[in-house]
Amino acid sequence: MCGALSPIGDGGLFLNVAKLYSHTYIIMEKQKQKAELDELKKQVSDCQQCELSKTRKNIVFGEGNPNADIMVIGEAPGANEDEQGRPFVGKAGNLVTEVLESVNLTRGEVYISNVCKCRPPENNLNQHQSAVDACEAYLQKEIAIIKPKFILALGLTAAKSLLKKQISQNDLMSNIHGKVFDYQDTKILVTYHPTARISPLDIILADVRQIPEIINPNSKEV
Ligand code: URA
Repeated sequence: MCGALSPIGDGGLFLNVAKLYSHTYIIMEKQKQKAELDELKKQVSDCQQCELSKTRKNIVFGEGNPNADIMVIGEAPGANEDEQGRPFVGKAGNLVTEVLESVNLTRGEVYISNVCKCRPPENNLNQHQSAVDACEAYLQKEIAIIKPKFILALGLTAAKSLLKKQISQNDLMSNIHGKVFDYQDTKILVTYHPTARISPLDIILADVRQIPEIINPNSKEV
């Protein structure tokens, strides 16, 4: 009978209770994050702040693990995304999946979103700064809800939107890709957009190879 209260038994019990609490906390936190993201998605669905709201078929809100350590942020939806209301589907999506798999990540583990939630009809956001500006608060809120440890910024639009203080609006991707920036409480790695006209997949894969060490600096093999 006393065995159950022996130091070893107590320690085990304490550990199990601690694990249970931490597990329950994570589940509750995930539910809270999901509810907050659902509410934000509703606001985006009703958004008419810019001209893209008139031509979109669907808003394209972020998707994935609401409690993710890693966020991937692209530019704006294309035709497939607009049709399906999901980020990075079709060819662009396959490339993102390939990039994630190269560092043993799955789409389900991360949270994927875009700077802009509506499709620019010409597939070019350069002509729609008002859309980028209008969407900025939505992306900031998504980041604040998810609280990722790490953000992968795909392309110059994402880098410039997130790193206003750290990089110049004239910076070229060739100067900033592969660099890691501090951003609020997280780190941002910038790389090329996988569907950019000049999109060197080998460079993207080399850039993202840094992710495991950025997320978990102590795990580096020696
Ligand atoms: N699809 C997206 O969702 N975002 C991009 O930046 C490109 C394609």
